[in-house]
Parts: sequence; structure tokens; C-alpha cells
Amino acid sequence: MIECAVWWAEPLPNESRYLTFLDEPERGRHQAYRREIDQRRFLTGRVLAKTVLGDRLGRSPETIRFDATCADCGKPHGKPRLAGTEFSISHSGDRIGLAVTSAPVGLDVETDTRRADDPLIEYALNETEREALTGLSAEEKVTAFFQYWTRKEALMKATGQGLKIPLHSITLIDGRLAASSDAALDPATTRLADLTPGEGYRAAVAVLTTQEIEVREQLWPG
Ligand SMILES: CC(C)(COP(=O)(O)OP(=O)(O)OC[C@H]1O[C@@H](n2cnc3c(N)ncnc32)[C@H](O)[C@@H]1OP(=O)(O)O)[C@@H](O)C(=O)NCCC(=O)NCCS
Repeated sequence: MIECAVWWAEPLPNESRYLTFLDEPERGRHQAYRREIDQRRFLTGRVLAKTVLGDRLGRSPETIRFDATCADCGKPHGKPRLAGTEFSISHSGDRIGLAVTSAPVGLDVETDTRRADDPLIEYALNETEREALTGLSAEEKVTAFFQYWTRKEALMKATGQGLKIPLHSITLIDGRLAASSDAALDPATTRLADLTPGEGYRAAVAVLTTQEIEVREQLWPG
């Protein structure tokens, strides 16, 4: 059994006491966001991750530098990494989440305001998964769809490839990875859990491990 700790935060303000956590490439990204709320979500993810990981490593958060080099284009907007740690950041609406564990991990949080219409369902779910939705009421369908969606995104993020993995290449049955045509996702070494980010949000975490996972969620700051 391995523990997976998840923290939920709300957007921090763009204040200098937080902005000092950002290194040069991060300041560039922060400034490039046009909307203030996007800046604040990005800032919060970084402050939260550096504080939690700094605490675990016995290091001052401001000294922590992530490598977020994108494997596709080399820009610093990829999955952030730090030697000796496994973590994942996700943000949506007023929720910023961080998952930390001891194996590759992916976290996804989504607001539940998005409509689960047929084109979106077809885009995200393959035939096997769509069949599993038949017979559900409209409300049940929306709930089930967002469970699929967050679980699939969490899986894709755990591999570090993100949406480069085709959504239809992953088959989920009864909340577990049943099949995947991507070598990075093996049902035998994949664990999934639904999370409780609060009303109006849905979230899931995926950990690439053979062991069972025990998830502990908490608010940040505590
Ligand atoms: C990562 C990705 C799934 C984002 O999903 P989303 O639901 O829009 O956003 P989320 O808030 O859940 O996740 C964003 C976070 O995922 C992390 N992330 C970025 N790239 C990632 C990747 N390839 N794999 C896993 N995590 C990634 C980052 O921490 C990012 O937040 P930050 O930049 O503020 O630190 C999506 O953008 C993606 O697949 N990107 C990679 C593929 C791609 O577009 N490549 C071409 C770029 S040149």
C-alpha cells in the first residue's frame, strides 16, 4: 500500500510574498497569461507544490526549481519535475490541486458546469464506454461522463504525455483501466481513485504502481 496525499487550494492573490516563489521561466509564464485568474491559478499551483515538496525535502520553498521542459517544443510548460519526487498539479475554476506520492502520478480536477453533450461524449469515450452509459438517466450520464473524463485525464497526466495519448485508446470499466493501446499505461500497474474536491467539482487521481493506493485529501493551507 502506498499513500497518495492530495491538497486542495483556492487561488492566491498576485502578491509579492507569493510571486517570490517563481523562478525566471515561471515569471515569464505568469506574465504571459492575459487573464488575472489564470495567472493566479498558475501561481497557486507553484506556491502549493513548492511549499509541500519543500516541507517534505527539508528545503526552503523559494529554492525549489522545477524542470517543466515540454518534450514537444522545449518551452517550460510541460509536466513539472523535481528529482526524488512524484507529483501532479491540476487547476479548474477556483480549485487548485496537488497530488504527491512515491510513483508517477496524474491529477485532474474539472468544474462540473461543462455540458456532457453527445459530441463531447463521442470525443472522449470509446464504443465500449459509451455502451456502458446506455440506460442511465440524463443526470446519471453526466456524473458517469465526468468520472470517465477526469480518470482518463489523470491517467494521461501520470504518463507525462497528457492529451497526446488518444482518449479512445484508453478503456475504463467499473472505474479501472481495463485496456490501453499505449505502452505507458498497463492495467496491472495502474491505480485510479475518485476524489472529493468540493461541490461543483469532480476530480480523479491515477498512480502508476502495482501496489494499492491510500488517498488522503486535505485543504491547503490547513
Ligand atoms: C497537460 C494537459 C493534459 C492539461 O490538462 P488541463 O485539464 O487543461 O489542465 P490541468 O490544470 O489539469 O493540468 C495542467 C497542469 O498539468 C501539468 N502538465 C503540463 N503538461 C503535462 C503533461 N504533458 N503531462 C502531465 N502533466 C502536465 C502542469 O503542471 C500544468 O499546470 P501548470 O503549467 O500550471 O503547472 C494538456 O495541456 C496536455 O496534454 N498537454 C501536453 C500535450 C501538448 O499539448 N503538447 C504540445 C505543447 S507544445
